[in-house]
Amino acid sequence: MRYRAIAMYDFAPDPGEPKPLLYSSLARAADALVEGERDPVANMANLAALIWQYVPQLNWAGFYRLVDDELVLGPFIGKPACIRIPIGRGVCGTAAASGATQLVADVHAFPGHIACDAQSRSELVVPVLRAGRVIAVIDLDSPEVARFDEADAAGMEMVARVAAEAI
Ligand code: SME
Repeated sequence: MRYRAIAMYDFAPDPGEPKPLLYSSLARAADALVEGERDPVANMANLAALIWQYVPQLNWAGFYRLVDDELVLGPFIGKPACIRIPIGRGVCGTAAASGATQLVADVHAFPGHIACDAQSRSELVVPVLRAGRVIAVIDLDSPEVARFDEADAAGMEMVARVAAEAI
């Protein structure tokens, strides 16, 4: 059996960076972090922590996995959250059903939004696709209205492509 070196990961995000640069560093860091590791829980946990470190103004960041036709909570940072979400329900279930990124400027205006943390005001959910099928979603919540834009969506889609091969 081979073991990886025991390492400290010292990524240094610059929160003042323009979003495209911030997300390309995040995607590179994500790639480096999962390299050589096949355990999906370990990789999701580290990716959630990395996203939390890089992306400012979040109150929740993590994974829901598609398990037996529903979404089941995976590794995350934030308050304890709803465990199971039916496909098609809420922002996460809509992303899983459609395979499309959901950018929600005001969660109170999203029909069927599932409130896990009353502080959440806007949300970005990106599907993780492998061979064209949704295997998970990455969910980001923010306490600020309209926190996320197309640059965040495109950036998190890069992270989702890294996750697709690692979880
Ligand atoms: N708000 C999500 C549920 C998950 S929590 O935000 C962590 C939704 O509507 O699907």
